Parts: sequence; structure tokens; C-alpha cells
Amino acid sequence: MDARRSAPATLRNREPILEVLRRFVPSGARVLEIAAGSGEHACFFAARLPVAEWQPTDPDPDSRASIDAWRTQSGVAALRPALALDVTADPWPVAHADAVVCINMIHISPWAATQSLMRGAARVLEPRGALFLYGPYRRFGAHTSASNEAFDASLRARDPLWGVRDLEEVTRVAEGAGLMLEELVAMPANNFSVVFRQP
Ligand SMILES: C[S@@+](CC[C@H](N)C(=O)[O-])C[C@H]1O[C@@H](n2cnc3c(N)ncnc32)[C@H](O)[C@@H]1O
Repeated sequence: MDARRSAPATLRNREPILEVLRRFVPSGARVLEIAAGSGEHACFFAARLPVAEWQPTDPDPDSRASIDAWRTQSGVAALRPALALDVTADPWPVAHADAVVCINMIHISPWAATQSLMRGAARVLEPRGALFLYGPYRRFGAHTSASNEAFDASLRARDPLWGVRDLEEVTRVAEGAGLMLEELVAMPANNFSVVFRQP
């Protein structure tokens, strides 16, 4: 049976995300991807960035099966088999990374997951390593679009602990873990790329 899953949004956002990643993922990097989902991003990025290793992870077994099925089909040498990683569990199964990538998890998990993500990224990132986030965010307590506001309501209806977060609050938690906000990039469809840096 083919375990490959498909998330249509990945086809729309992968090119703009790749352009940002090109600036923050150095040649020869070991990349840890959190919440890799279907694995389509992992295959796409690992094939196009000059990385030594792209390690996809997800706590969900069906997602890991999908990641591994896409990996087998792609034949991308730098792409590692998926690992189980729940950000709220300690320790993480990966101890060192030059970059951590986390796309579309922060709003689809409890706030505790964001807090754990920041602590975990600060633990595993090498000096000057980058944490890259992508997703929708509120700015200074307000939604940036009507569509994000409707999306936020739909998320909270599914799970009251989910929701589009304030970027300022996310930044406060990252800085509390010792990471520094380096760049904010406005992306298509009212999303942001956010890059934090390990000192
Ligand atoms: C909307 S999907 C995003 C998947 C993929 N990054 C993408 O953009 O298509 C959210 C992902 O977050 C993962 N996730 C939820 N809670 C998590 C946690 N505590 N630790 C790590 N991943 C988590 C889910 O398993 C799911 O794969």
C-alpha cells in the first residue's frame, strides 16, 4: 500500500519557503525538521539545498510512514528516514543540528508545544545555528487578514488549545530560551517566515 500523503498547501508554499531557506541553511548543514507531516517539504528541500543531512521528524506514525514513502520514491541521498519526535518530550532523538525547520506546527498544537520547541531548538542548535519557522501569525494582538481570522476560529473550534499565535509572544518565548530574532519575511497568503539565531 502507498503510504504517501499529500498536503496541497505544500505545493503552493514550497518555492517561496525554499528561497528563504537558501539564505539561512548553510552548505553542508545538518537540518532537523520538526513536524514534517506528509514529508513532501522534506523531499523538495533536501533535493534542492546543499545539505549534508535533512532529518525529518513527526510524532504521528502515519506521517512518518508517508515521509518514508516519499523518501524511498525520491531517492534523495541527504534525506534521512523519519524519526519520532514530539517537541514536548525530553530528550529529543537528535542532539545536534545546524538548522531547525518547523513549518505550520505552532498554530496546530497547544502553546506548550511552542514553549518546548524553543527550549529544544536552543538545546540542539550549534552556535550561530538558525531556527526557521513558517506559518500564519497575529501581529501586536491583531490578525493580519480576515482569512487568518476565520482560519483561527476554525482551528479553535477543532481544538480550543490550538490557534494562530501572536508573533510577539512567540518571539518572547524564543528569546527566553536564548534565541535571537534575526529576520521576519512576509510570505504569500498572509504567512510569515521567522528566523531565530542561536548566539
Ligand atoms: C499542519 S501539519 C504541518 C505538516 C508540514 N510541516 C506541512 O507544512 O505540511 C502539523 C504537524 O504538526 C505535528 N505536531 C503536532 N504536535 C506536535 C508536537 N507536539 N511535536 C512535534 N510535532 C507536532 C503534527 O503531527 C503534524 O504533522
